[in-house]
Amino acid sequence: MKIILLGAPGAGKGTQAAKISEKYAIPQISTGNILRANIKAGTALGKIAKSMIDEGRFVPDEVVIDIVKERLKEADCKNGWLLDGFPRTVNQANELEKFATIDKVINVDVPFDALCDRISGRRVCVCGETYHVSTLGGKTKCDKCGGELFQRADDNEETVKTRLSVYSAQTEPLIDYYKEKGLLVTIDGNRSVEKVFLDIEKELDAL
Ligand code: AP5
Repeated sequence: MKIILLGAPGAGKGTQAAKISEKYAIPQISTGNILRANIKAGTALGKIAKSMIDEGRFVPDEVVIDIVKERLKEADCKNGWLLDGFPRTVNQANELEKFATIDKVINVDVPFDALCDRISGRRVCVCGETYHVSTLGGKTKCDKCGGELFQRADDNEETVKTRLSVYSAQTEPLIDYYKEKGLLVTIDGNRSVEKVFLDIEKELDAL
């Protein structure tokens, strides 16, 4: 099963990706998570990526294409994978086609006015778990690993505006791109996490 998750910043890609990865036993490959891990580790790649991510701009295509190309060669990708946050430009999609086949593209659709609240209320843990302040009930530690929850550096109002406009200009065209290839299914992401996942399951079980 080779899946792409498309969606605007805050649409719930990471939340759904974790559930899909667990249920279908395929690795979640998030270019955002890989880049943030590199920033944290202070690698050369992390140094290139930091200012771009902090400002809400995209990291250059060639950098992320190389990351994904190498990651898909790893042993755990043999039976499938789930791409979360890649491709994000038509150029990335064209390049991906040269080294991978895709079974389905799931577009998680959420209106822009709901996205700002989701992003500004997001809290994350170093282990990868994602929460929203509205459901935390004042908790500051991760349920999964006990780690301290924090807000991502790019989850501030100014950066979110940039991320949404970059999404509209550069990523939204991928909806038509994959529609024309007959690979796209759009899921209403403006419902509970469980309801969104039920619809995704229906699509994936049919594969
Ligand atoms: P990335 O980490 O991929 O960020 P993003 O696409 O902006 O997506 P987010 O992680 O913000 O949101 P999400 O859709 O995963 O939502 P989540 O599940 O967390 O990329 C970060 C940066 O890295 C980019 O800006 C760019 O600079 C760079 N980058 C990455 N990939 C790149 C690429 N391919 N090319 C170039 N640059 C790249 O949910 C959000 C919140 O909503 C959470 O609080 C969650 O609890 C809540 N929530 C989730 N689902 C629901 C629901 N159904 N109802 C209510 N609340 C919900």
